[in-house]
Amino acid sequence: MSYKDMLICKNLQINDKGHLCFAGIDTLELAKQYGTPTYFMDEDRIREMCNIYKSALEDAFKEKGRAIYASKAASFKQMYRIMKEEDMFCDVVSVGEIYTAIKAEFPPEKLYFHSNNKTDYDIEFAIKNNVGFFVIDNTEELLAIDRIAEKLNKQPQIIIRVTPGIDTHTFEAVATGKVDSKFGFAIETGAADEITKLALSLKNIKFMGFHCHVGSQLFDSDVYIRSAEIMLNYIIHVRDDFGFSASMLDLGGGYGVRYLETDPTIDIYENIITVGKYVKDFCEKNNLELMQISFEPGRSIVADAGLTLYTVGNVKKIPGFINYVSCDGGMADNVRFAMYEAPYTVLPAGDMLKNGDMKSSIVGRCCESGDVIQPDVLMPSDIKRGDIVAVCTTGAYNYSMASNYNRLPKPQVVMIRNGKTYVAVKGETLDDLIDCDI
Ligand code: LLP
Repeated sequence: MSYKDMLICKNLQINDKGHLCFAGIDTLELAKQYGTPTYFMDEDRIREMCNIYKSALEDAFKEKGRAIYASKAASFKQMYRIMKEEDMFCDVVSVGEIYTAIKAEFPPEKLYFHSNNKTDYDIEFAIKNNVGFFVIDNTEELLAIDRIAEKLNKQPQIIIRVTPGIDTHTFEAVATGKVDSKFGFAIETGAADEITKLALSLKNIKFMGFHCHVGSQLFDSDVYIRSAEIMLNYIIHVRDDFGFSASMLDLGGGYGVRYLETDPTIDIYENIITVGKYVKDFCEKNNLELMQISFEPGRSIVADAGLTLYTVGNVKKIPGFINYVSCDGGMADNVRFAMYEAPYTVLPAGDMLKNGDMKSSIVGRCCESGDVIQPDVLMPSDIKRGDIVAVCTTGAYNYSMASNYNRLPKPQVVMIRNGKTYVAVKGETLDDLIDCDI
């Protein structure tokens, strides 16, 4: 296959020198200017995705539609500034994400605080900082929120996370909507009813509605309709049996992105419009007032806005076995293959007109055999030390899951907007690595 057929997002192109361009810029120029490894992010693409979600939700639900960015996908100050400018809400899962958002002047009342184990410290921090919503995951935390809210004389808004019991055929580690999930309250087992009754009895919270999230990297366009149906039926049951009218329903995140040219494309705008029709019809038929409907995407907002550039070091050919192409990053900056065997498209940034004739394993520089960015990719057989390789679709869950394993400094994040580049996160220095050491 030629590399031309592997340009999986429209921000990838080949210029007349045969170099890969990202967001309109020659990637060899980017590597020269910023060094490697570096995460690059196409800010125009991030904003475009925000607008797709916002316009779909507005067209589907008018003022009742709400787009929430799940910031675990990529969390640093500039991301929250962009989300503020784009008028998005944000999902946060830790005090660290809340703190980062607040320091970026993101309005705290537009934050939804998730996590399946919020400590008393987390809860107090969030209430004191006026975080908009708590997404309730378990009974202990709901009781703690009520108690801490009373002490602080506040009344935080809550929504309850319910597991609708859907198997989404996604890989196990990111499937979250099944009955036996670590997250939320199952409808089937009666757990959702128990927590709903408890929430209705508490005085120091404002109970707003329900949340569900069934999985990640989903392409099945039916999934959101199936979960909406289950959730809306549940909302009717709660209205009829407990006398509570939910005013919010959050359908979670999960839309899939293309990592490989064989991955399907999902039209997110159309899919949300279809879900919208379903939800409105359902409400009308069942005499249910339309509540506020939100989606909470992470990956699909940022994934294909990202590209990582590495420099090739050692090329080790073991005839009859395997060819290793080592690069100057690895599992510390992209743990997703090591953790989930996640696929990636890897391209020879300076040799896009050549043929990929050498099956190679692109590996990192960590002292660990599992430090593989991607096995079985085709590279030109003359690839050598100093060449640049690009790993595509790295905008989600790469920087945010990076570690300092082997004391590797985390790479910088460089944003590209309207053909201009700027550093959004500085690369760590050696001194940063020892900064907390006593
Ligand atoms: N809402 C909730 C409650 C979630 O747990 C998640 C993701 C999202 C929204 C956003 O889902 P997305 O639109 O990004 O699929 N580290 C894994 C992904 C874990 C997803 C965790 N929850 C990976 O690298 O694939």
